[in-house]
Amino acid sequence: MDGALTAHLHDWLNLLLRWAHFITGVAWIGASFYFNWLENHLERQSRAASSDSGIAGDLWAVHGGGFYYLQKYEVAPPKLPTTLHWFKYEAYFTFITGFVLLCSLYYFNASAYMIDPRVAEIAPGQAVLIGLASLVLSWFFYDALCRSALSDKGLLLGLVIFVWFAFLAYALSSLLSGRAAYIHVGAAIGTIMVANVAHVIIPAQRDMVDALSSGQAPDGARGKNALLRSRHNNYFTLPVLFIMISNHYPTTYGNSLNWLVLVVIAIAGVGVRHFFNVRHLEKYQRWVLPVSLALLLLAVYMTRPSLPTVPAGAEPVTESAAGQEVEAEAATPTMADVVPIIEQRCTGCHSSAPTQPGFVAPPLGVALDTQEEIELHGPRIFATVVTTRTMPLANLTQMTAQERDTIARWYAGKVRNQ
Ligand code: HEC
Repeated sequence: MDGALTAHLHDWLNLLLRWAHFITGVAWIGASFYFNWLENHLERQSRAASSDSGIAGDLWAVHGGGFYYLQKYEVAPPKLPTTLHWFKYEAYFTFITGFVLLCSLYYFNASAYMIDPRVAEIAPGQAVLIGLASLVLSWFFYDALCRSALSDKGLLLGLVIFVWFAFLAYALSSLLSGRAAYIHVGAAIGTIMVANVAHVIIPAQRDMVDALSSGQAPDGARGKNALLRSRHNNYFTLPVLFIMISNHYPTTYGNSLNWLVLVVIAIAGVGVRHFFNVRHLEKYQRWVLPVSLALLLLAVYMTRPSLPTVPAGAEPVTESAAGQEVEAEAATPTMADVVPIIEQRCTGCHSSAPTQPGFVAPPLGVALDTQEEIELHGPRIFATVVTTRTMPLANLTQMTAQERDTIARWYAGKVRNQ
């Protein structure tokens, strides 16, 4: 099969996997958000709840043109229904599609997507092993923590888990490309969430159902552990979702302190989740939401671009009456300086007809074939080449520091001229 066709099929495989991952993820997290909402909005003082029916609360909802009435039992109904719905396949398929996507996108392309020579000169095989190890180690460490004496100290346990992930983000970002570091922190958290469902929450529920159908009392300790894991999953959701989309924003993972940016945003995510968990209560920590939003602003500030200072008196290039470009005294680079750099370092991939093997279309639609396109994408070129240095991808085309500097001063000149 010729290279272009392989690349085309690989592209489609990634797209379809991502689609499936997204769909199953929406189904899983959506159901989890919904049940969380139910729990928080149950009317515990209602008539059904106040009688001796064993009902903890109920609520009415209207959706899709119909009325729904739901009841929650204190423990369990006196007699188990014949059809009982479980929620687990969404989680399992989110994991499967996510893991295959991780392999297809990162592990089969490790030299382009996992390695950044400015971070560490490691071999692709090493990068893949580091990635896999981060998933497995995170689960074993987390699971051991939840089984330890710490499990009775909810807040402290949460803090230790958070510190582990901050450490993981730091360690991975000093071994792998920023993009791979971020996705592996997300994948490690996601792995824990799915393992919680598969190894703790579902078995505990199965136990409960078995005990009830044989007329025994369910094991309280298992139920308590399941509740703890499910609470963790709840707090993990927003940081994980952020990491998944951050892959399209080099501003975040391309920052020189990318792990710290992630820590700040994760705290904000946990904070926002907490706000939605408690806001139905009469008394709750009202500062949580504003502080979380302030942290997001801090992340925006931390990732700000900084334009190089242009020497005083340097005039940007002007066009003469004849339409010819005239160099001013000081050498602010012009489009004529930039074009050859872009042609040499970028258009192998960023062209409407890419020549770099594995590319069939310009990545993210960014083609840099013409001066107009270069002009149009100026801010993004500056962001990826100078601020985050995430381009050229893995510096495959070996762009030099001097060339980056030329781009920086060209763009600064443009901005000053506006
Ligand atoms: C080896 C191929 C390759 C080379 C060479 C390369 N890029 Fe990219 N570029 C990519 C890929 C792949 C993406 C998409 C990344 C993603 O999916 O988020 C991308 C994305 C971009 C984006 C869009 C990022 C965004 O989020 O807005 C810009 C801008 C960009 N590249 C500029 C450049 C410039 C400028 C150069 C040359 C200095 C360059 N690239 C060299 C592969 C390459």
